[in-house]
This record gives sequence, structure tokens and C-alpha cells, in this order.
Amino acid sequence: MFGATEEVAEVVSHALAAELGVAVQCRDAGWLDFAELEDQDLIVIGSCTWNIGQLPSDWEARLEELAQRDLRGKLVALFGTGDARGYPDTYLDALDAIAKAATAAGATLIGEWSTAGYRFSGSLALRGDNFVGLALDEDNDDDLTEARIGVWCAQLANEVDQARAGGLEVSALPA
Ligand SMILES: Cc1cc2nc3c(=O)[nH]c(=O)nc-3n(C[C@H](O)[C@H](O)[C@H](O)COP(=O)(O)O)c2cc1C
Repeated sequence: MFGATEEVAEVVSHALAAELGVAVQCRDAGWLDFAELEDQDLIVIGSCTWNIGQLPSDWEARLEELAQRDLRGKLVALFGTGDARGYPDTYLDALDAIAKAATAAGATLIGEWSTAGYRFSGSLALRGDNFVGLALDEDNDDDLTEARIGVWCAQLANEVDQARAGGLEVSALPA
């Protein structure tokens, strides 16, 4: 990772660690051995959308590999960085492909985020009235990023609790 998405990933890591009271590892998806994901219970994946609706190339190259891991019983949350004004028809499109790969691997997706207050005209990352994960816009709304991450991480902590209460085996969080 590099650029805005890497900076955002660091902020998410710190916020999540504070919210959950555990150590959180921040890893580069371009280099990570995806087998390591099978040892984690909560996996947070971030990506920008590039080249009008495309995944960044390091993600594109590894999407199939992610889809073929065994992530049954794992919770996966997604966040995306994009530019809703510059690319209003394809805002955060890359999250859709990552969501589909994680689902194909058997993961349970958490962390949907309301579209209320966002201005865009199209996105593959929609699930009903929600985005499939946290929607960020470092090009136009960077002043909102930290607050959005704080609210989202608190939401994730609640959803992890609910998943545990619902019987999903979430034994330990990433250490
Ligand atoms: C050539 C180009 C194409 C882009 N296409 C999209 C897009 O289709 N959808 C979107 O939401 N953002 C798009 N963006 C905006 C980036 O996702 C945004 O600037 C993001 O913060 C970049 O993250 P990075 O610094 O980690 O690469 C595009 C940016 C560029 C320069």
C-alpha cells in the first residue's frame, strides 16, 4: 500500500486497537501471505478504486488467491478510499470485487455503512441503501475521515460482539 489508503489503514488500525483493546497488525495486501488470514478472526481490508472503477494492480493480481482461501468463521470488514466528485459513477467500485472474493472464501462480511450524506451517482459497492464497507473520500472530505473511522470501529466492535453472541466462533482477535 501507499498514499492515502496506507495512511487511512494506519488510522483504522489504531482506532480498532483502542476500541477492541487488542493489538492490531497493519499489513500490506500486496505482500501478505494470505494463508496468515486463516489464523485471524477479524480481518479488515482496505483499497482505493483506481482507473475508473478498477482495483489497484496489486489487489487485482491477488483477488483470486483471496477467493480461494478458507475464511469460513472469519469476520471481514472493508473500507474504501475514493473520489466521489471526480468519479461519481464508479465511487468505491473496487470494494465490490473484494467483497465478492471474501464471500467466495466463506467469510462473513460486517461493517456496512450508510450512504446518507454522500453525493455520488453510481457505485458497485452498494448493498441496498448501504455501502458494503466504510466509505472514505480523501480527495474531498478528508476532514471527515477520522470521525467516520471512529464511529465505524465502534460499530465493528458491536458487530463482533453480536457475532459471538449469535454463535459464530470468534475465539480471539488478531494479536
Ligand atoms: C486515474 C484515477 C482514477 C480513479 N478512479 C476512481 C474511481 O473510479 N472511483 C473512485 O471512487 N475513486 C477513483 N479515484 C480516486 C482514488 O481512489 C483516490 O484518490 C484515493 O484516495 C487514492 O488512494 P491512494 O493514494 O492510496 O492511491 C481515481 C484516481 C485516479 C488518479
